Amino acid sequence: MFNSISKCRNTEDFRKLAKKRLPGPIFHYIDGAADDEVTYRRNTESFEQCDLVPNVLAGVEDIDMSTTVMGKKIDMPLYFAPTALQRLFHHDGELAVGKTAQKFGTMFGISSLGTTSIEDIAKHVSTPKLFQLYVHRDKGLTNSMLDRCKDAKFDGLALTVDTIVGGNRERDLLTGFTSPPKLTLNSLISFAMHPNWAFNHFTHSRFELHQIKHWIREGNKISLSIHDYFTKMLDQSMDWKAAEEIRKYWGGEFALKGIMSVEDAKRAIDIGASTIMISNHGGRQLDGSRSPFDQLAEIVDAVGDKIDVICEGGIRRGTHVLKALSLGAKACSGGRMYLYALAAGGQKGVEKAMSNMKNEIERDMKLMGVKNISELSRKNLRFR
Ligand code: LAC
Repeated sequence: MFNSISKCRNTEDFRKLAKKRLPGPIFHYIDGAADDEVTYRRNTESFEQCDLVPNVLAGVEDIDMSTTVMGKKIDMPLYFAPTALQRLFHHDGELAVGKTAQKFGTMFGISSLGTTSIEDIAKHVSTPKLFQLYVHRDKGLTNSMLDRCKDAKFDGLALTVDTIVGGNRERDLLTGFTSPPKLTLNSLISFAMHPNWAFNHFTHSRFELHQIKHWIREGNKISLSIHDYFTKMLDQSMDWKAAEEIRKYWGGEFALKGIMSVEDAKRAIDIGASTIMISNHGGRQLDGSRSPFDQLAEIVDAVGDKIDVICEGGIRRGTHVLKALSLGAKACSGGRMYLYALAAGGQKGVEKAMSNMKNEIERDMKLMGVKNISELSRKNLRFR
């Protein structure tokens, strides 16, 4: 049985290690999804519905996998999607992920429910940075996050549009997961069974939701499930007009995160977005929704010449990235692909996970006979 970061070869290895290291409710918060988790599984399975057709003898000694996302050139076509609560998984949280992104010359997203402040991220991480916005009922809070990101010179804003209410995450209901964790008999037993995690969690700087803590009591003091947080705190009246106003207020590179239909992709262009992230929130919201990879071709065909399309969700292998790029995605992003690794070993874990993915992309490009990702196209894909 492997038990060290250096022996983790793939996402599943990190997942097993994270499961050992985290108290159950925290592991299942990362690992779980909505309802029967059909969409969550489908996100990865959909990549297996098509095959790559390689070319050979292409002289592939030097390859270039760089691309441009939200106006920034990045060294590889895969970046860290913004995810919440990272210091709950490992005390280094967002800083570990940001510093890894910097090391690999790729982009890094920070969540409205992040546990490191916008200002600290700006101070310590110089790689391209994206802020993920949840539009709260409290407009003052929403605008304060935008203002802080403008001051901190973030490179782009991604407005999440698929969390208008909380998804039905039954694993969280079963485990009673809340953030911060409630101190109940069960949680105390679970902490006692994971003494390393508990020691680190309680001896490092306090777990706080830095982007929201001055605005709402829920920021720190009240333990809430993520489902209840979305449903209680986020603005359910949000519509296209509101999204356009946010784009104008922000004034910089703007993406909609969570677009799944051609109609919405076209409307994203109408309101001035430069990028859409095709995503179903890792299967954590609407179970039964299609996978991003399944929707990619029709969206690229309709709008790919007018807006950048990112494929987010289910990425576990370098070949998944190559398949998405072959269909016309500009880049891919993922959450769990690095969160298990963060939980398993902090920055060292995230670095190993990204290095595994980078090696896979490089090896797979060489085996495909492409030196540059622009050489990938539908000519090298066949659906079964
Ligand atoms: C999630 C949020 C917070 O749990 O992005 O899916």
